[in-house]
Amino acid sequence: MSWTSLTPKWNCALSDEEALTGWFAGQRQVFEDAYLQTDDPYKQSGWGSTPERWRFGREVILDGVPRDGDFLDIGCANGLLLACLIEWAGERGVTLTPHGIDFVPELVKLAKARFPENAANFEVANAFDWQPSQQYTYVHTLLEYVPKKQQPAYLQRVLDEVVAPGGRLIVSSYGSRGKNEKPLDIDFHLQMLGFRTTGCGNSLEPDGWVATRVAWVDR
Ligand SMILES: C[S@@+](CC[C@H](N)C(=O)[O-])C[C@H]1O[C@@H](n2cnc3c(N)ncnc32)[C@H](O)[C@@H]1O
Repeated sequence: MSWTSLTPKWNCALSDEEALTGWFAGQRQVFEDAYLQTDDPYKQSGWGSTPERWRFGREVILDGVPRDGDFLDIGCANGLLLACLIEWAGERGVTLTPHGIDFVPELVKLAKARFPENAANFEVANAFDWQPSQQYTYVHTLLEYVPKKQQPAYLQRVLDEVVAPGGRLIVSSYGSRGKNEKPLDIDFHLQMLGFRTTGCGNSLEPDGWVATRVAWVDR
């Protein structure tokens, strides 16, 4: 199941609080239903293809991670992405400390179990209104965690309040080859929203298909 198939309403324009509360409740239910019906760790992170393709589609995030630091994955699901990024970064001589939030409590429980020594670094929270108690060297997010209308303010708040001074906001956009859904040109998109990106990367297949696009903004 692809990310986009889970978010049919992701581009709706909502403004009032009641509508927003309903939107997030609906989204939370969709993720609970989709991710918790299986013990497969990949499916619990929304991935339906092979581990090799997972690495191909996710390792590109590390293009924006040149040095050691605290890495917060917003929407961490069961923590699989963090575990893999830590392993792949280690192969490059970079050490990351995992942190995560997710609005599905059962997924946060799974993430804590994956990182017993860092369990305190995981929290149940809605990215939209979460108040962090610390700031992070790297903060990774997807746009779709909030309705389209709220995305610029969401990104600005994360950059100002969640990313540490000198740190980096990393934004990914995932495509789905099976559904022929291309990722957003996230670098261009962030620039159009007024953010000054400082780098970008993509997972480019030999035939030209782009699985993931990622771009980052420094604080
Ligand atoms: C596609 S998975 C991402 C997993 C992993 N971070 C990755 O990038 O591969 C999306 C996760 O974000 C969580 N999520 C979606 N919207 C959220 C929000 N507003 N606040 C917190 N978590 C959210 C979902 O529960 C789900 O576990």
